[in-house]
Amino acid sequence: MGRSPRPCDKPVVTDTPSPPRPPRRPRYAGTHPRRFGEKYKELQGDPDAVARAIERGQTPAGQHRSIMLDEIVAFLAPEPGATLLDCTLGYGGHTEALARRVDPGGRVIALDLDRTEMARTLARLDGLPVKGHATNFAGAAKVLELEGVSGVHGLLADLGVSSMQLDRPERGFSLKQNGPLDMRMDQTRGTPAADWLRERNPAALADVLLTLGEEPDAERVALAIAQAFRSPSPPRTTRDLVRVVLRAKGLDPKTKQSSAFQAHPAARTFQAIRMAVNRETDNLDALLRVLPALLRPGGRVALLTFHSGEEKRVRAALEKGLAAGVWATANLTGARATSDEIAQNPRARSARLFTAQRAAE
Ligand SMILES: C[S@@+](CC[C@H](N)C(=O)[O-])C[C@H]1O[C@@H](n2cnc3c(N)ncnc32)[C@H](O)[C@@H]1O
Repeated sequence: MGRSPRPCDKPVVTDTPSPPRPPRRPRYAGTHPRRFGEKYKELQGDPDAVARAIERGQTPAGQHRSIMLDEIVAFLAPEPGATLLDCTLGYGGHTEALARRVDPGGRVIALDLDRTEMARTLARLDGLPVKGHATNFAGAAKVLELEGVSGVHGLLADLGVSSMQLDRPERGFSLKQNGPLDMRMDQTRGTPAADWLRERNPAALADVLLTLGEEPDAERVALAIAQAFRSPSPPRTTRDLVRVVLRAKGLDPKTKQSSAFQAHPAARTFQAIRMAVNRETDNLDALLRVLPALLRPGGRVALLTFHSGEEKRVRAALEKGLAAGVWATANLTGARATSDEIAQNPRARSARLFTAQRAAE
């Protein structure tokens, strides 16, 4: 047995320092943690927790699983040296797969409205030929001009919101985690959901809930929201808004409303408000207008939609271009994800993949 150290002993210096300890994960606060970041160990970078979430068929919190990845890569068929445009970088799963295939000599120009997530994603993709622009895809033509590109070989737009945005309560997209009523993808501009709602009258709001969310109780829910925003204590958080919607539908906010496989009764309302706050249909229309001009002759486009409003717009634009001879071929039906993918990732259930190839000149 060695002697115990005396106060005057100097630390022993050896030539082979012991390896640094991995950083300790902050202590988990029991089975009912108060903070979202403690509830999901994946958010703290625990690799075992990430693997377990994937095994359970869940998307690890703070990540996003790319939908129909193989189908999209197969259709865009990127080759080394090609220039591609990913209009919706998100977690970067599609961009990464595409960037690996255009290397060497090619690149992926990637856009996203969300500067916060974009910075994280670009750091993860460091070393790959990816050029990020924190901007709206409605202005994609301007980005290509800045990059000195007259047309890309392939373009992807994977519409809607990412799992990371939904997972971070402070962004205000989540039905399940409490957060401020914000919902802006670009938090540096635009109107947060709370202000947007305050400015709406019941009729205008009902119209939005019906057209963007296909909410069957649109009028009732819109009236309740408009009244709540005119009350002395208006809704300030996502939880407040969920309560207003549930009461309008005659549901008790204290009862557990949904399982992972059932849509939450406030989901359609949240979707409609998010789409309106971010002007999602205007942005999609703007992209569809310039789509053929963003591609070089023979260039390919893949558009991933998640609800009937997006499907209708995409189908109509492709149909019109097909009739005008702009597209050589177009899939107007919208391919579905395989049952295996849907079992692994429930978000894939509503996905429809529309594709088209620009006519050669
Ligand atoms: C479904 S996610 C994309 C996921 C991505 N394909 C992946 O593999 O991780 C959609 C992304 O598009 C972004 N987005 C939505 N509308 C946009 C727009 N008009 N311009 C640019 N980005 C937009 C969102 O911020 C979000 O990050």
